[in-house]
Amino acid sequence: PVDERVADLLGRMTLPEKVGQMMQFDAREELEHIVLARHAGSILHTSPEKVLRAAELTSQTRLQIPLLVAEDCIHGHSFWEGATIFPTQLGMAASWDADLIEGVAKATAAEVAATGIHWTFSPVLCIARDLRWGRVGETFGEDPFLIGELASAMVRGYQGDGLDDPDAILATAKHFAGYSETQGGRDASEADISRRKLRSWFLPPFERVAREGCRTFMLGYQTTDGVPITVNDWLLSDVLRGEWGYTGTLITDWDNVGRMVWEQKVQPDYASAAAAAVKAGNDMVMTTPGFYAGALEAVERGMLAEADIDQAVSRILSLKFRFGLFENPRLPDRERIATVIAQGAHADLNLEVARRSLVLLRNDGTLPLAPTTRRIAVVGPLADDAQTQLGDWAGSSGQVDWMPDGHPRAQITTVLDGLRELSGGTVEHARGAGILDLTDDPAGVFPDGQPRPPIVAPQEPDASEIAEAVALAERSDVVVAVVGDRIELVGEGRSTATLDLIGGQRALLDALAATGTPLVVVLMASKPLILPESVRAASVVWVANPGMQGGRAIAELLLGEIEPAGRLPISFARHAGQQPTYYNQIRGQHGDRYADLTQQPAFAFGDGLTYTTVEYGDAEVLTPVVSAGDTVRARITLRNTGERPAHEIVQVYVRDTVTSVSWADKELKTYRHVDLAAGASATVEIDLPASDCTIVDAAGRRIVEPGEFELLIGPSSRDEVLRAVSFEIR
Ligand code: IFM
Repeated sequence: PVDERVADLLGRMTLPEKVGQMMQFDAREELEHIVLARHAGSILHTSPEKVLRAAELTSQTRLQIPLLVAEDCIHGHSFWEGATIFPTQLGMAASWDADLIEGVAKATAAEVAATGIHWTFSPVLCIARDLRWGRVGETFGEDPFLIGELASAMVRGYQGDGLDDPDAILATAKHFAGYSETQGGRDASEADISRRKLRSWFLPPFERVAREGCRTFMLGYQTTDGVPITVNDWLLSDVLRGEWGYTGTLITDWDNVGRMVWEQKVQPDYASAAAAAVKAGNDMVMTTPGFYAGALEAVERGMLAEADIDQAVSRILSLKFRFGLFENPRLPDRERIATVIAQGAHADLNLEVARRSLVLLRNDGTLPLAPTTRRIAVVGPLADDAQTQLGDWAGSSGQVDWMPDGHPRAQITTVLDGLRELSGGTVEHARGAGILDLTDDPAGVFPDGQPRPPIVAPQEPDASEIAEAVALAERSDVVVAVVGDRIELVGEGRSTATLDLIGGQRALLDALAATGTPLVVVLMASKPLILPESVRAASVVWVANPGMQGGRAIAELLLGEIEPAGRLPISFARHAGQQPTYYNQIRGQHGDRYADLTQQPAFAFGDGLTYTTVEYGDAEVLTPVVSAGDTVRARITLRNTGERPAHEIVQVYVRDTVTSVSWADKELKTYRHVDLAAGASATVEIDLPASDCTIVDAAGRRIVEPGEFELLIGPSSRDEVLRAVSFEIR
């Protein structure tokens, strides 16, 4: 009985041991100090050697409470050289395939668990609405329903069949909640979202995984209505623990408690900050060394009751007992590393996910390349850039000697490699342009001592580099230009003011188009970047950061060995100033467009072409009148009228025609994957619980308002391609 074991252990712990148990330390600090002097509960950013050393030190402590070892393995085992790195979350989201993503999480968990890591800080459930935000690529995109589906699958994959599964790891739903909605897309600023708006869009994916048993939740960095999330009592206590009955563990983000003192300046000292954070319901405090003395002082000064600390420590101990850590500390295991890391099945899965994540956005028929294409020019700064292909959170700590001699490392195939391997013709390469120059920030470090990222400046177009690429294009049958962003423009603290292709990339594309050789643009961009219509590309494919096998998958797609299958999980803007462009905006803002620009996105949520044409017949509703407890049933027939197979994602949106408060004009409610051979038809049956047709009313309640609704069925969120049919909820 876990509760008894927790109570017994807690009863034997001193106050300093309890405070230490609440702390997660950066393992780059001195381990002796962390474990022996601070009684750490957890470490992150570690290595197998450090995990073993920390375990040895733990065995010297009075109570020998095992450490939880955490890492950001968010699209594969990102901290292990040679382990499998899948496409980033936004790339995977383009597959709209929950089963595939559950498989990715399962494979990741097995690789991660073998190396002695217990806990991953994944998945991200933030809704990406401002494309300037640096962490858009870490999300599943802009739609709460799709995010909920995919995040739930990822949590299932990580946590496996139960915590006693040796291949399972703990998942984290992050960043709770509304972090992505910060001002100007800049990271970690103010996110003033009303409670009703939170309940409408931002909370539902979190509620779903909380109720489904996601073991841990992580906060963001944002402040809402003047209150840092770390002490947002309403969200943490009333909603998460109260309404949703969440019993899991809540961890802050990096130094959230300290930031309230040194950055946000809403707490005068560490004692007050620690007291406020514990009272608000945080269990584990990530990387705030000052929490230790602060919490002890808070108890001594009567600002914090030991009972509050006990509650947090109980939740941490309970997690450790349930995870079986006291019986099996789950240390790095050479044998399992040898069998699990980079195993063939994971490579196959990785290739499949990469294939499914590619989204064809424009095509005049140049793709797939005709078998007669003999000479392919592969140009652009990202054509042979393994690091960008892997994306953010893919640094390795170089633990090579933990892999047996001759053990296969997961291989990276760049676009250039892929085309060289698969095309029967001549493949030549020229970079053509750079993206950016880096200079060290003269300010050097943040106030807390963390190094500042380098300052980036677009690299000037280089005329001779462009000329070399142009000469190559002129002697080729097709030119494939791989352009986009780079790791320095992506991630935490790395939002961008521009969404343009920077450096010499635009000049390169224009020069290539001017040669008259058909230009295929492969947009390897962590998030939607702007590709103006004026770029005369014959075809455009967005590939996000497609992971280790991405180059091969892209080559297969260009050469027509596979069909385009991905659909956008996020809208693409025409201009950075056009934010936001997400599809499910509320209706009724007659001034909601710019005088100088349409409000239509360049490419909308759900968009994605195939190499064929698929026609949708009229939608038919079989239940024109239902009650809120019934199921709405509808069907639609599609026909592949072209000459190649199609992988179609039939999207089903609901429009509540009149609502008591302003509401999204339409919302995705479900979708179906349909494979159609050339010339084939299929009838898709849709069953939708009427109870899904909700809004959040003025009082913040999620309700069904009886009345007229429309079901909108089609290949994208754009009205012009959706088939509408009415039904009534009585
Ligand atoms: O998990 C991350 C989080 O997403 C952002 N801040 C740092 C954490 C730990 O690395």
